[in-house]
Amino acid sequence: MDAPTIRSICCIGAGYVGGPTMAVVADRCPHIQVTVVDLNEERIGAWNSADLSLLPIYEPGLDEVVGRARGRNLHFTTSVEGAIATADMVFISVNTPTKTHGVGAGQASDLKWIEASARMLAKAATGHTIVVEKSTLPVRTAQAVKSILEAGPAGKSFAVLSNPEFLAEGSAIRDLENPDRVLIGGESQEAIEALAGIYGHWVAPEKILRTNLWSSELSKLTANAFLAQRISSINSIAALCEATGADVREVANAIGADSRIGPKFLTAGPGFGGSCFQKDILNLVYLCRYYGLEDVASYWEQVVTLNTWQQHRISRLMVNRLFGTISGKRIAVLGFAFKADTNDTRESPAIQVCLDLLEEGACLAIVDPKVREGQISIDLGKPAGQGEGNWQLVDSVEAAAEGADALVLLTEWQQFAQINWPAVAALMRQPAWLFDSRAKADGAAARAAGLNVWTLGEG
Ligand code: UDX
Ligand code: ADP
Repeated sequence: MDAPTIRSICCIGAGYVGGPTMAVVADRCPHIQVTVVDLNEERIGAWNSADLSLLPIYEPGLDEVVGRARGRNLHFTTSVEGAIATADMVFISVNTPTKTHGVGAGQASDLKWIEASARMLAKAATGHTIVVEKSTLPVRTAQAVKSILEAGPAGKSFAVLSNPEFLAEGSAIRDLENPDRVLIGGESQEAIEALAGIYGHWVAPEKILRTNLWSSELSKLTANAFLAQRISSINSIAALCEATGADVREVANAIGADSRIGPKFLTAGPGFGGSCFQKDILNLVYLCRYYGLEDVASYWEQVVTLNTWQQHRISRLMVNRLFGTISGKRIAVLGFAFKADTNDTRESPAIQVCLDLLEEGACLAIVDPKVREGQISIDLGKPAGQGEGNWQLVDSVEAAAEGADALVLLTEWQQFAQINWPAVAALMRQPAWLFDSRAKADGAAARAAGLNVWTLGEG
């Protein structure tokens, strides 16, 4: 069987997945023209900025990869139709957030952007086109995409593949360059081999797994559900450690040494965030309910319930330690991104914790090295302001600590491990607290500087 030669790729969606993935494909396959398209002109403008520090996404190493390939065989444009027409292979990498209204609201994914992409493809594609689903999707979405493509104008043909992305933000370039595995699901062997051939330029053959369409789609949801489940499991034990005098890091080390459990993804924290985990579990729950598997649905739903509980637990505990009221008190919030090394705030636990603290009347001084003020306004539902129940963004831990009763560390940025505690403690109103939900700060140094310290999972 001869796999078609791919000379030209188009990717619909220049977001956290499409942008970095296509940058690495272009970098590793200089003989393929890669065009990333998006309807969002501002985003495309940022991808094309001469100053590589202004790319729309912050990812370590991304600027170098884009710098090498852009203008050579990597292009960013808003001309969606033109790029589709000339492509041998089109990746769909658009957003699929959880539906906010209608059937399946709060659980099912909103597929309107996928559907719009499929309709655009049916219209603009020419000849034979291999369509690759990259977005995280509910199982059997490929079928919907196929139906739309088949209903389009005659004279064109399509093969649909599922190729879920497993990169984690903050380590996207490393994950793309050296993946644990690449998963390709599909019916057309020629199309599967054409895509495998692209990855084969830098990924070892034994790491490229081939499955049917549905296994590929379900594997993505399952991988994320298992990973998130580990986090909820360790977070539940963290609460028990605090109550009993155990230390969750010691427990994690001890259980992680069992090769059947393994050491990764056992870091207790303020709960998982990011665009995938919650959305994918809710998708799984929705699917199980749809197929009448109520017990399976409620089993997985509990992973999300515990995650939300963990976020509220932190804010409740803070109010309690600060003499039952934080109304009018200044609280420094260290970190707003959902994890370190990204500017992404989607589902960040910091959002819920901040909303709880604002509701109690606190004045928040937020510091994050990469998140912009406009994004925080959107996430907290109001612009920056002064006084009770308001927030502002400041540019250093010292500025945030000035006159504060407490600091709460929510994102594990490396710079928060190197705080000058005597200097910071001297700026705060006493008695002052450090609430460290990531066990990232030097707790002993903060205590020595006179602060009361609460570290998540430490009894
Ligand atoms: C995740 C999956 O890891 C990735 O394979 C998939 O493609 C997309 O979803 P991402 O959300 O980018 O990636 O980051 P990840 O490193 O998985 O972290 C998710 C959340 O879990 C973060 O909020 C992180 O702080 C939290 N986390 C992670 C923990 O609280 N403890 C851990 O041990 C690991
Ligand atoms: P992800 O994390 O999955 O990459 P993002 O929200 O970061 O999600 O990126 C998805 C991108 O897809 C957005 O920039 C959005 O503008 C783009 N997009 C959505 N629908 C379309 C479409 N029909 N055509 C082109 N781009 C689209």
